[in-house]
Amino acid sequence: MHWFDRLSIYLYHYNRINTWSGNFSKIQGWSSDESQFARFEMIKQAANFNGKHLLDLGCGYGELYDYLSLDFQLAKYTGVDQQHQFLKSARRRLRNERDICQFIRSDISKFTLNDVDIVAASGSLNYQSRDPNYITNMITRMYKIANETVVFNLLDSSTFPAQSLLMGYNKQGIYRYCKTLCSSVEVIEGYANEDFTVVMRK
Ligand SMILES: C[S@@+](CC[C@H](N)C(=O)[O-])C[C@H]1O[C@@H](n2cnc3c(N)ncnc32)[C@H](O)[C@@H]1O
Repeated sequence: MHWFDRLSIYLYHYNRINTWSGNFSKIQGWSSDESQFARFEMIKQAANFNGKHLLDLGCGYGELYDYLSLDFQLAKYTGVDQQHQFLKSARRRLRNERDICQFIRSDISKFTLNDVDIVAASGSLNYQSRDPNYITNMITRMYKIANETVVFNLLDSSTFPAQSLLMGYNKQGIYRYCKTLCSSVEVIEGYANEDFTVVMRK
């Protein structure tokens, strides 16, 4: 992602850290905990995470790990984000899970890793990019990285009008693109008015 787009994202969250002190969901841009957890729930239902290595692109505070750990025992969790304040807090919070959890600061559009079973991206693909192919390139990259499953959510352009920082996507268009890569593509709706989740299974 172009550095200027990443800077806009960084400053957005930086400002929210000050405005919403201690309120993780608001800092990460969610309207509420419920809205964040509704997305996590769709991810949780997408796969059996037991014994798997999960790569969480745009992990924020790494709370997807906590949510999944209520039902699954992950073998490994790698969270990637550019916001160092999020990563620092996540490392401290999950210091007792160091054998399982690692947090890496990187641009998710450049990051790659071997031996990943499942790639997830929750809320991290909705930011405006000056690259018109950003979302299709990200889907292709995630699909290449994952050995088994890719699961991500996007804002739905039919209910979410584009803003200066965030944008939605056409569900059918995303589905059709995913089908060019993968025969098993599921689109999940109905858990939030402005959002949909895509699951690609290899
Ligand atoms: C809406 S927050 C969601 C965080 C977490 N996944 C959750 O569901 O609570 C999106 C996150 O994606 C990160 N992000 C977006 N684009 C990124 C990029 N190109 N490189 C690294 N991090 C990025 C942001 O820093 C932010 O922490």
